[in-house]
Amino acid sequence: MALLTILEYPDPRLRTRAEPVTVFDEAFGRLVDDMFETMYAAPGIGLAATQVNVHQRLIVIDISEERNERHVFVNPEILGKSGTAVTEEGCLSVPGIFDEVQRASRVRVRARDRHGIEFEQDLEGILAVCLQHEIDHLDGKLFVDYLSDLKRERIRKKLDKDRKARAAAPAAPAPLPARVPL
Ligand code: NI
Repeated sequence: MALLTILEYPDPRLRTRAEPVTVFDEAFGRLVDDMFETMYAAPGIGLAATQVNVHQRLIVIDISEERNERHVFVNPEILGKSGTAVTEEGCLSVPGIFDEVQRASRVRVRARDRHGIEFEQDLEGILAVCLQHEIDHLDGKLFVDYLSDLKRERIRKKLDKDRKARAAAPAAPAPLPARVPL
């Protein structure tokens, strides 16, 4: 297994629209495992392949505290949505930034698993929110796109400043995040 590099906003590669997965071979299985390892290490609760510069429609999610409930969604399609939920979202590609986004609180999804087997599932709560956030990634969209131009510009400047500070003092250990990004 291997840790993959997570692209950060405003990297233009995050704007790529991912293609459907058609081959479910051993290499694809390794990609799924590497994405879980990368997400757990970050740490985060969801990761889309777009974020590791692989432009295939693959999402991994684990919202459990014990980090032992793996969800894999390949070629996900939302079949229905209902309700609304406002959640303070974060994103591994927008480190340290959290803001409120409104999404559906319940979704029905059709997807394939890591072996290519199709399934349908009803999701609610943070799992439903997380899936919608990750599907946005596959379409080249980020949660900051829902915020005002002014906020997005502030975020871009802050991330730029943080990257420069990290480059100047690379030895400083990262503090444990208070909130877990999607
Ligand atoms: Ni994200």
